[in-house]
Amino acid sequence: MALFGSSTRDVPATAAVPRHVAIIMDGNGRWAKRRFLPRFAGHHRGVETVRATVRTCLERGIEYLTLFAFSSENWRRPEEEVSLLMQLFVRALREEVSKLHRNGVRLRVIGDLSRFEPELQALISASEQRTAANSQLILTVAANYGGRWDIVQAVKRMLSNQPEKVDDWSEADLAPHLAMSYAPEPDLFIRTGGEQRISNFLLWQLAYSELYFTDVLWPEFDAAAFDGALASYRQRERRFGRTSEQLKSASPTTASPTGPRLDA
Ligand code: IPE
Ligand code: IPE
Ligand code: MG
Repeated sequence: MALFGSSTRDVPATAAVPRHVAIIMDGNGRWAKRRFLPRFAGHHRGVETVRATVRTCLERGIEYLTLFAFSSENWRRPEEEVSLLMQLFVRALREEVSKLHRNGVRLRVIGDLSRFEPELQALISASEQRTAANSQLILTVAANYGGRWDIVQAVKRMLSNQPEKVDDWSEADLAPHLAMSYAPEPDLFIRTGGEQRISNFLLWQLAYSELYFTDVLWPEFDAAAFDGALASYRQRERRFGRTSEQLKSASPTTASPTGPRLDA
């Protein structure tokens, strides 16, 4: 398993196309409400956007796509909506995994899965195993995920593996225990639906991500809208603490892709 450095310790190599895009897919309910439809119709339609987004990632050469599907706070929604969302998740896994597999997509699910029905847990695990050898795109679905949960579970796992660390541990000791240690940190974070907040998504991993907020509701976030986010990303100057002048003076041929390491 490849382990990636942290953006606060190393300066990651960056390219015009983000390697890792993380998305909060928001606005399904409002999309439905505007059409006088039940909220669930919006979630249903949102699955189509997921399909299209995966296709765009494959076409644009994005290596990692992470989607926030259900937050640890979403259990607070009406029971009926939670139950319909779970059914939709089961259905989407049943119907989509073959196609993902054919397209070389590896599926991974992060979050506290213990709260899900055994049937859903088994389906997740079978889907992950089936696609485990694929590497065209790593599609991570965050389900019953919370950024704070992730940090807490990582600390617990680190200390249970290495109890001697209790009084002296660093970022580098913790990072391998986070739920997404298999991926570089997101280069680009997108939130659809107009809200400008993180809602307890990848708190640790978003430390140096470029943030992009759009009013477009998730069911309407098509390839053109995604390309708008990618175009915005291309305009960004990712300094990782350095000055703009430093970036301009570093020639692209001589610049080291991973900058000086900051020892904790
Ligand atoms: C996002 O859409 C999907 C989930 C949280 C599962 P919402 O359901 O939050 O849609 P809005 O924000 O009510 O429009
Ligand atoms: C965030 O959306 C979670 C997901 C998209 C799964 P919410 O719509 O639940 O976020 P808040 O509660 O408005 O911040
Ligand atoms: Mg919402």
